[in-house]
Amino acid sequence: MKILLILAVATIVVFLAWRAGSRRRSLPCPVWLRWMVELDNPFARTNRAAFIVEKLELAPGMSVLDAGCGPGRLTIPAARAVGTSGRVLAVDIQVGMLDRVREKVGDLRNIELLQCALGDGKLPVQAFDRALLVTVLGEIPDRGAALREVFEALKPGAVLSVTEIVFDPHFQTRGTVTALAREAGFTEKAFFGNAIAYTAHFTRPALPTRMTEDPEDPA
Ligand SMILES: C[S@@+](CC[C@H](N)C(=O)[O-])C[C@H]1O[C@@H](n2cnc3c(N)ncnc32)[C@H](O)[C@@H]1O
Repeated sequence: MKILLILAVATIVVFLAWRAGSRRRSLPCPVWLRWMVELDNPFARTNRAAFIVEKLELAPGMSVLDAGCGPGRLTIPAARAVGTSGRVLAVDIQVGMLDRVREKVGDLRNIELLQCALGDGKLPVQAFDRALLVTVLGEIPDRGAALREVFEALKPGAVLSVTEIVFDPHFQTRGTVTALAREAGFTEKAFFGNAIAYTAHFTRPALPTRMTEDPEDPA
């Protein structure tokens, strides 16, 4: 009993230290834990790949950014949903995660892989109809910079889907995610789930309609 208690306390201490350390430097989920990332969470519907992809309302020909793709849990079903005329850019900071995606690609030809840190300005501009950030945001030291880069990478009117779950040591509350997303320029679109396990959708607002007449100039 005492050993179990010590183990529980040690786990909590490691989780809290990892979480706090991630605010200062990049401490991503280690590649050796990727098997755990690949498990579809049996407790939270809003964290399951099928649910997240369904809510994205993907259509053939769409372009999707899987930001912090890990071992490709979302990359593969998203690539199937957008078909051969669409594409998925799977981005991760760790080569080992991208290697796992490569192993799973099979005969899908619409997946591109990019190793970079979100926020470093490596993403193409106004290129995507949808972006996914599934249990990634809390691992990024500068969350604001990452969200601004994702904002720029989306086409006007496009949708960002953020998923968080409390079992993740890097869990971000709905309030934090919403505040960061608003700062980056997003507006709230939809929310699924509850305070401890959710998927939230945000929109990059469409460009304002071009004024053809100057209201100040009656001429
Ligand atoms: C917990 S995993 C989630 C993977 C995937 N989104 C999923 O839900 O199955 C978080 C992933 O984000 C990646 N990551 C962390 N910081 C990153 C950054 N700054 N830029 C890109 N990827 C990052 C990690 O390497 C890891 O693969």
